[in-house]
Amino acid sequence: MENNTEQYFNGKRVLITGGAGFLGSSLAHALVARGAQITVLDAMLPLYGGNLFNLEGIREKIEFIEGDIRDEALVQKAVTGKDIIYNFAAQVSYIDSKDQPFLDLDINGRGHLNVIEAVRQFAPNARILFSSSRMVYGKILTSPVSESHPTDPLSLYGIHKLLAEKYYRYYAHTFGLDTVSVRIPNPYGPRQQMKHSKYSIVGWFVRQAMDGKAITVFGDGAQERDYMYIDDIIDAFIELTAYGVAGEVYNIGTQERVTFGGMVDAVLAEVGSGSKENIPWPENYEKNETGNYVADTSKIEQITSWKPSVALAEGIARMVTYYKQYKAQYW
Ligand SMILES: NC(=O)c1ccc[n+]([C@@H]2O[C@H](COP(=O)([O-])OP(=O)(O)OC[C@H]3O[C@@H](n4cnc5c(N)ncnc54)[C@H](O)[C@@H]3O)[C@@H](O)[C@H]2O)c1
Repeated sequence: MENNTEQYFNGKRVLITGGAGFLGSSLAHALVARGAQITVLDAMLPLYGGNLFNLEGIREKIEFIEGDIRDEALVQKAVTGKDIIYNFAAQVSYIDSKDQPFLDLDINGRGHLNVIEAVRQFAPNARILFSSSRMVYGKILTSPVSESHPTDPLSLYGIHKLLAEKYYRYYAHTFGLDTVSVRIPNPYGPRQQMKHSKYSIVGWFVRQAMDGKAITVFGDGAQERDYMYIDDIIDAFIELTAYGVAGEVYNIGTQERVTFGGMVDAVLAEVGSGSKENIPWPENYEKNETGNYVADTSKIEQITSWKPSVALAEGIARMVTYYKQYKAQYW
């Protein structure tokens, strides 16, 4: 299907929660280039990927509010007058969600309910997009995974992402709000946080290799994942903003079928330093292993012209170039 979103964003008033993070800032750059008026709301919580350097180059063109999606009055003010709201703010680590269950619920559940309630009252005509996760599926029973695959998450992070999806769907059906949720696979690329191993595995491995360290792979590394380059994710959000159907949820993915070990090999080849070490699965990790994940993306393809275009080796090459140049801002 041929669509054109070039003019869609011109002059639109856009709020991006979590907009100093990886996805939010990348989207902010793309939408400033399309003529949108951007407001970023970000709490800059230390464990997550908020980094003001991510907004370098557009900082003077946007409004930046340091604040929390759980702050009712602030969020009500921030959503007022907006045409489009991207709700990306999150506790982003499924590992941390086990140790801090109430924090995860507070941000990934209540925080999102707070935003959507504010939208209902103060911006009922806004289009609202939510960044969900492949983690809502849990154990993979049938592949490729379509949106109707059972949802039985293996982490509190996944449970709370599913909870938020349900909020968005409920508000669409009950109050007619214009909400769309997007289930994201494993993302990677420039502006991703590189501070610790609890979020992006590709980012962490790029860092390990650049620091000349050994990358540890559990088991034989044969599990397949869908690693998705940031530009392809942002393009999907742009298309779904224009064409996504209210109340619906969409998978995105590359269908590249890369094994974990293959991803590590690609990182090592591109960086040119570091090494690989295979170790047995620790007991607690195996319980959370979902099995091979490949998304069925026919639903988004039916309504948009979106197609991922960056293969893993190319994406990692771009990422390594970026972090070699800006290492001091991310390490
Ligand atoms: N497969 C997955 O699970 C997956 C993959 C990628 C992204 N996502 C989702 O996409 C979104 C963006 O992720 P990202 O990769 O850009 O992560 P990120 O950590 O780079 O960005 C998240 C941003 O949210 C901000 N934030 C956290 N809590 C906040 C709060 N209470 N109020 C305001 N701001 C807050 C952080 O400061 C950070 O800047 C998240 O919702 C994440 O869950 C899911």
